[in-house]
Amino acid sequence: MAKKKRSKFNRFIKKSQRAKRKVAGHSHQPLLFPKGFLWGTSTSSHQVEGNNTNNDWWAWEHGRGKKRVAEPSGAAANQYELYENDFDIIADMHNNAHRLSIEWSRIEPEEGQWNWIEVEHYRKVLQALKKRNIKVMLTLHHFTNPIWLAKQGGWEQRRTAELFARYAEFIAEHLGEYVDFWITINEPLVYVSESYMLGKWPPAKKSIWKTAKVFFTMARAHRLAYREIHAEMHKQHRIARVGIAKNVVSLVSYRKKFIDYVYVRVSEYVWNNFFFSRTRGTHDYLGVNYYFHNRVKRDKGGKLVFVDVRQEDRDRSDLGWEIYAPGLFDVLLELQRYGLPIYITENGLAAINDHKRTRFIVAHVKELYHAIKAGMDVRGYFHWSLLDNYEWDKGFEPRFGLIAVDYETQKRTIRPSARVYARICEENAITHEILRYLGHGAHEEDS
Ligand code: BGC
Repeated sequence: MAKKKRSKFNRFIKKSQRAKRKVAGHSHQPLLFPKGFLWGTSTSSHQVEGNNTNNDWWAWEHGRGKKRVAEPSGAAANQYELYENDFDIIADMHNNAHRLSIEWSRIEPEEGQWNWIEVEHYRKVLQALKKRNIKVMLTLHHFTNPIWLAKQGGWEQRRTAELFARYAEFIAEHLGEYVDFWITINEPLVYVSESYMLGKWPPAKKSIWKTAKVFFTMARAHRLAYREIHAEMHKQHRIARVGIAKNVVSLVSYRKKFIDYVYVRVSEYVWNNFFFSRTRGTHDYLGVNYYFHNRVKRDKGGKLVFVDVRQEDRDRSDLGWEIYAPGLFDVLLELQRYGLPIYITENGLAAINDHKRTRFIVAHVKELYHAIKAGMDVRGYFHWSLLDNYEWDKGFEPRFGLIAVDYETQKRTIRPSARVYARICEENAITHEILRYLGHGAHEEDS
């Protein structure tokens, strides 16, 4: 049976790759996306709102002792006040969707106490999107935790799953009418590994045991929240589409060695699939954050390492991450086994050089086009990020935004890449003239 399934999967891969080669031929026709395809951008509360003083990240940024972050988040991009202005830009970019997150520590500043002023604030934020005809994708947990929760032991304690599900239910009850797509947890594996394995993010532990414990608590929290949101939306006679945003990596074996290949497949399973398989049956769609393509090999000690991209002289972002658009096609192919619709919930790069961002967007969106042509059910693309923001421990230096932010004045400046993205969204297609940005110097006419 497993053999039969595998050969079916292999046939599908071959067919997809053939289709990709076929559509790659030269033609002046626009590369059209399906009607209703979602075009948007993504942000998260702590990275853009500013003054999120009641969560564990803020405490971490201001903790005494050795320097843990490049700089504190402070007022960030002050989207807490400037959201109307930012949403006007979204509408001008012809986006029909937007992904943002709710800050748990604002809504529930102490255990069991709900802050109605903040509930009303988020109501206005979500209404502002709806007024502009923008579909809402709402994340409930994007790396930050209320301080009261962190003090209890955060995700290391089992009951956090129940506390999270109760918060999810509360948001569904009071703000659910504005939400088209729910993301319970953003990148559980990134959170777990940065905070409990590598010890770089709060609470900065380095323990395999705790890593596993937190992983399982998060998986349970997702399952419980999925059920609560569905139950509440059912009561309101609304459709609930619930998922997570999963960081998915494209991995290849650097050398043609069987044992390296096995290593790759195992890592792929653990990083890309394990959370999905632990939470099977509780995803209405798959949310994919795609940033990484890594070439893997074993070093002399038998340890699995990523080949340094600088040594390879590959195209890379300001953070040194390799830029490899076909990897997006590959991970989508890998996720076909779940038979669920897919949304790209994040994809982007840190780049001062905005030409690079333009090429990046066109190249990645083109991979989506090929994936759809090959029969994959991809329904939306959310670029990370709408505007420059607080990149966690790295501070404000990495520039991920389609919109540049001057943090002194909070002035927004639309980058040329945003105009190219806006044209793709407006046309719901990559036109031949936009394709020309691949491999050519971009924005000649804009400079
Ligand atoms: C996270 C974002 C982050 C982005 C770029 C994603 O993993 O969800 O919060 O800013 O990557 O590093």
